[in-house]
Amino acid sequence: MSRFLPPLVPRKVAFDWSDTPLEWIPGQPFASHFINEINLLLPAGEFWFCRVFNQALPLITDDALRSEVKAFMRQESMHARAHAGATESYLHAHGIETESNTRLEDQLFEKLLGDQPMGFTLKGRPARQWLVFRVGIIAAIEHMTCVLGNYIIRNRQWDEAGADPTLLDLLRWHGAEEVEHRCVAFDLYRHLGGGYPSRYYLASIVMPIIFGLWVHGAAHLMKQDPRFADKKPSVFRPWMWGQWFKHARDGWLPSPLWLITKELSFFDPWYNPENEGSTEEALAYLNRSPAALAAAA
Ligand SMILES: [Fe+2]
Ligand SMILES: [Fe+2]
Repeated sequence: MSRFLPPLVPRKVAFDWSDTPLEWIPGQPFASHFINEINLLLPAGEFWFCRVFNQALPLITDDALRSEVKAFMRQESMHARAHAGATESYLHAHGIETESNTRLEDQLFEKLLGDQPMGFTLKGRPARQWLVFRVGIIAAIEHMTCVLGNYIIRNRQWDEAGADPTLLDLLRWHGAEEVEHRCVAFDLYRHLGGGYPSRYYLASIVMPIIFGLWVHGAAHLMKQDPRFADKKPSVFRPWMWGQWFKHARDGWLPSPLWLITKELSFFDPWYNPENEGSTEEALAYLNRSPAALAAAA
């Protein structure tokens, strides 16, 4: 590892959800539901990151990388707990049913991407290859979360519209830590011998799946909103995708085309996650995040 970045800092956070409305961007129910799905999409994946990285720890021969991986795991488990807390104390308090979304993600990460994929027990070299493959999947997802983290910490339109400060802080604290730890999964993948060809094909599979899960989950949240009842929101309906484009054009969401363009750098053989964000910008937010300051106090 040859990075010149400050060591990662695992931070505790505390959020009070008592005043956060379901339509947390006033006047923007589509964008509010769309971003709220992040609370459901992330925890299963982030706990799975921790389990996979925990298995990789004994294989790491670089002390600096090992301590970064440990700090990464502590950050990711805090992210997962914070979003799961938002689902419990915020979405459920508004009567939102979330289990059908989280069940799908649990099956994906526990069964399909677990230690015994589809029930097969792996030993020796295949077990190591399966571990490196999964670390590569995490590196591809971490590129996506870094892109989204940049979007969220730089977004100003939500603030100008009077968006809920607690939800904004959850998204920005998490987004800033994604930028802060953007190199760890990629460094671990390379350290364990992960190469370019497998990075290329696994990213080609992972990125459409994550976008599909996000839109599918957001559609499920919208189905529960009477204002969208006549639209029958679904990942398979063009209305859903058309609305995503429309809301992106109006500045309420990141554009799907912009996201795809930003994902392309991961396919570059000379990809370097250090170039994908600014640590100074991330730390500037983390040092003033109300949730991080509240927990520290
Ligand atoms: Fe995270
Ligand atoms: Fe992350």
